[in-house]
Amino acid sequence: MLEIRGLEVSYGPVAAVRGIDLTVGAGEVVAMIGPNGAGKTSTLRAISGMVPHGGTITFDGADCRGQSIEGLARIGLIHVPEGRHVFPSLTVHENLQVGTTADGGRAAMFTIDDVYDIFEPLQALRKRDGWALSGGEQQMVAIGRALVAQPRLLLLDEPSLGLSPKFVQTVYGALKTVRDRIPMLLVEQNTVVALRHSTRAAVLVGGRIVLEGTAADLADREALVASYLGEEPALAAEEVALERPAD
Ligand SMILES: Nc1ncnc2c1ncn2[C@@H]1O[C@H](COP(=O)(O)OP(=O)(O)OP(=O)(O)O)[C@@H](O)[C@H]1O
Ligand SMILES: [Mg+2]
Repeated sequence: MLEIRGLEVSYGPVAAVRGIDLTVGAGEVVAMIGPNGAGKTSTLRAISGMVPHGGTITFDGADCRGQSIEGLARIGLIHVPEGRHVFPSLTVHENLQVGTTADGGRAAMFTIDDVYDIFEPLQALRKRDGWALSGGEQQMVAIGRALVAQPRLLLLDEPSLGLSPKFVQTVYGALKTVRDRIPMLLVEQNTVVALRHSTRAAVLVGGRIVLEGTAADLADREALVASYLGEEPALAAEEVALERPAD
């Protein structure tokens, strides 16, 4: 569905992405993990036309170059950017209604009511203004708004960023019902979460893919992945322990 070949992104003299190849096929959730500044967000921005790029990006066989983010949304490539971007002066419900305007006439796979089913905490917040939502609530609205745009491919940039473990579970629990239906390219700094919720993963360091494999492969090579991320493997293990329900 999405095919990236030799992708390069630079900001003036800063080479953020230095020639990466990546594909996301139907039925796949591909995770990109990597330390701060690795080029993850830049990759997503290039895909959705927010920054110029070298190399080629095709979505369903069509070249993405020169297309606007709105144009790509209309053909079903929907980006939930880093930092959520909920409309502050619109209510939760109105934010979701805005999402439906990008559906490009595709059949409704997710209605606004489905979003309230998937993200139950939003039900009681329908009339709440965007500015008065917590970070986790905003993240649910941002993803919900993407779903009602009827994505054919979802780009998600760090959905767990800044969320408490409980909200991380809520957001990823909800994504479970989505990932069976919509392929995703998922950027995530939380390795444990990324590998648990993806089918394949790539580790990005300094704008290059240094390691790639099935999520199970990379979970088995936890120590190596952690070393690329500059983490202690034991820390990742501790996180797993924290996520388990108390006995
Ligand atoms: N608008 C910009 N102008 C100049 N340099 C930028 C710009 N945006 C990003 N960069 C640089 O490009 C590199 C890659 O940034 P990017 O945001 O893609 O990283 P990331 O992997 O998403 O990191 P993080 O995990 O911190 O979000 C970094 O060195 C960053 O400082
Ligand atoms: Mg980023």
